[in-house]
Amino acid sequence: MLFQPPLPPPYSRLSEREMCGRICAHKAAFGRRLVILGHHYQQDDVIQFADFTGDSLKLSQLAARQADAEFVVFCGVHFMAESADILTHDDVAVILPDLSAGCSMADMAMIDQVEDAWDRFAGATDEKIIPITYVNSTADVKAFCGRHDGACCTSSNARKVLEYALTQGDKVLFLPDQHLGRNTAYALGNPLESMVVYDPHADDGGLTDEQVLGARFILWKGHCSVHQLFTEQHCEQVRRSDPARRILVHPECRWEVVQRSDLAGSTEYILKVLEEAPEGTSWAVGTEAHLVNRLAMRYAGRKYIRSLAGIQCLCTTMYRIDLPHLTWSLDELAAGRVVNRIKVDPDTCHHAIVALQRMLDNVSATPVSAK
Ligand code: 13P
Ligand code: SF4
Repeated sequence: MLFQPPLPPPYSRLSEREMCGRICAHKAAFGRRLVILGHHYQQDDVIQFADFTGDSLKLSQLAARQADAEFVVFCGVHFMAESADILTHDDVAVILPDLSAGCSMADMAMIDQVEDAWDRFAGATDEKIIPITYVNSTADVKAFCGRHDGACCTSSNARKVLEYALTQGDKVLFLPDQHLGRNTAYALGNPLESMVVYDPHADDGGLTDEQVLGARFILWKGHCSVHQLFTEQHCEQVRRSDPARRILVHPECRWEVVQRSDLAGSTEYILKVLEEAPEGTSWAVGTEAHLVNRLAMRYAGRKYIRSLAGIQCLCTTMYRIDLPHLTWSLDELAAGRVVNRIKVDPDTCHHAIVALQRMLDNVSATPVSAK
């Protein structure tokens, strides 16, 4: 995670009204030169200023389309800003208002660990392994996939990308989210026995050569600390207390949770399902709290939406992008200073864009699981 120095003291004294006023004024002054992108997990205070909102796939597509913009302010997390930098023209400055807005899952697969794993697999098998990385990963890991005939995916198109990968090689290495990898491979009809988990912290990855040889999917031992909080007990409790309530989860949840749910898909899919849900229906939603709370408010009195868990499952890193940091980054921009620019080096970009382009070429509307 990168270090964000504290903001200059005046920012802690600004009222919400003052900050909102400044942000609106900067947006008006910059016009089309400035685009603010916001992920669905972002807090309401901030997302109200986004020109576009979306899930990771939609935001990547939007970033790739920004022909007029000089500045893209990304209200999301670090890997999203990196992807936006890779997908935009060199002249576009991508800004992350708080540098410490990282993703703990992306940090679970460091490039040295991935290179070591690759060598370890080469010692066990000469079959062709296609590395697929969830877009929640560092630019280095994306570049690694680009260099080795692999691709990126998001939770929106993981099925399509896995299908593509299986046409390109004998096995798939899925990074860094074991849950998205397992849920997607299983939804495609592969049994759990065809999957093994590679632990970068264990000797030999915790796998024998026979296990590597026998597996069709090698899942990296990474996870999202937010979605891992949802358990099968939460699902069972909903089923007992309110059998009519449907369970809708993100595929970063564990397999046991996805199996007990009615539907699983990306944040954009979750939005769509709830928008199309008939009035009077009840839903337990297994994803980040800001999105669930926003949807519960949006449909209050018409559709009954609550979190699958009793506790607040919050992406604390996304939450670091707040009103003071957004105001500060735009104030600086207006003063002619670009702060917190996220810049991926040209060599990494060159290979990472191959993997990202395969992600953008393999778009499908099929969620991970729709029963
Ligand atoms: P999506 O918005 O692509 O569903 O991803 C969720 C997430 O956890 C982002 O980090
Ligand atoms: Fe990363 Fe999980 Fe936060 Fe998404 S919700 S940004 S995967 S920590």
